[in-house]
Amino acid sequence: MAASADELVLYCSVQEEWCRLMAESFQRETGVNVLMTRRSSGETFAQLMAERDQPRGDVWWGGTGDPHLQAAEEGLTAVYESPMLAELQDWAVSQATASGNRTVGIYAGALGFGFNTEMVDDPTPACWADLLDARFADDIQVANPNSSGTAYTLLATLVQIMGEDEAFEFLGQLDDNISQYTQSGAAPIRNAATGETAIGIVFMHDAVAQAVQGAPIAAVAPCEGTGYEIGSMSLVEGGPNPDNARAFYDWALSADAQALGAEANSFQVPSNRNAAVPPESPSLDQITLIDYDFATFGSSDMRQHLLSRWDAEIGARR
Ligand code: F6P
Repeated sequence: MAASADELVLYCSVQEEWCRLMAESFQRETGVNVLMTRRSSGETFAQLMAERDQPRGDVWWGGTGDPHLQAAEEGLTAVYESPMLAELQDWAVSQATASGNRTVGIYAGALGFGFNTEMVDDPTPACWADLLDARFADDIQVANPNSSGTAYTLLATLVQIMGEDEAFEFLGQLDDNISQYTQSGAAPIRNAATGETAIGIVFMHDAVAQAVQGAPIAAVAPCEGTGYEIGSMSLVEGGPNPDNARAFYDWALSADAQALGAEANSFQVPSNRNAAVPPESPSLDQITLIDYDFATFGSSDMRQHLLSRWDAEIGARR
């Protein structure tokens, strides 16, 4: 693709509504024509790999931090030290530090699950272990961890809580209750909102987004503790419009741009310290969070290892 002074190719991995609002707002403020595509985190990582000899994207904005760290390790993303780093929360800067400034945190959110309150009777599920109950046979959905960063976060979280063999044992048992492994991470809770499934394993903010829109969905922070994401942003190495890419990057880290999330019905915790945390956001200090090891679970070796084992032991059952 030829570089153009007034274009930006944006790969976006949050919900479509937020992707569109970011693209339109940046375009309106700068006059730069934004060409946006929305894909899940693992899919965008795979796209960057496929395009590595001829990069077509400029910025990868959003999606879970692990595949952004893997992209950094693979040299798919560019080093950039934004002047906006000074305004960010420590957890957002730590993504930059861990990757030699090839990625940065833009939001955070805890993993959990949500259930349809009209479909699930008491006692309602409160723990990961409760999801193995036979009464939920074929009534739980989660995404496929190859395409979805949400589902990879689940896999990495269970490994960190239980140990690897025990986590795969758990996922094998859970598989009896899974009706479908979706492509996108938030699809299970949209399907729970419409009554297609009773439970969706998703980030808690995605469950809250359904409840805010009036769906009968309750969000759960699992009692054993849970993992979380540092949603991230990276510049594509060798992308066609590097100046516009850096301008977008700085803008996306500003408090004003981060306030667009709540307008687009997205309730992650923003990374800019001056950005208001939406009142609907699940409050991270009231959730039992594990000390998620981003360096290990965002490494290429570990991600490839866990995904191949998932394919062999879980995906292969379908
Ligand atoms: O926008 C919702 C969201 O859950 C983000 O918080 C997260 O980074 C992204 O979607 C993950 O999407 P997927 O699981 O489809 O990669």
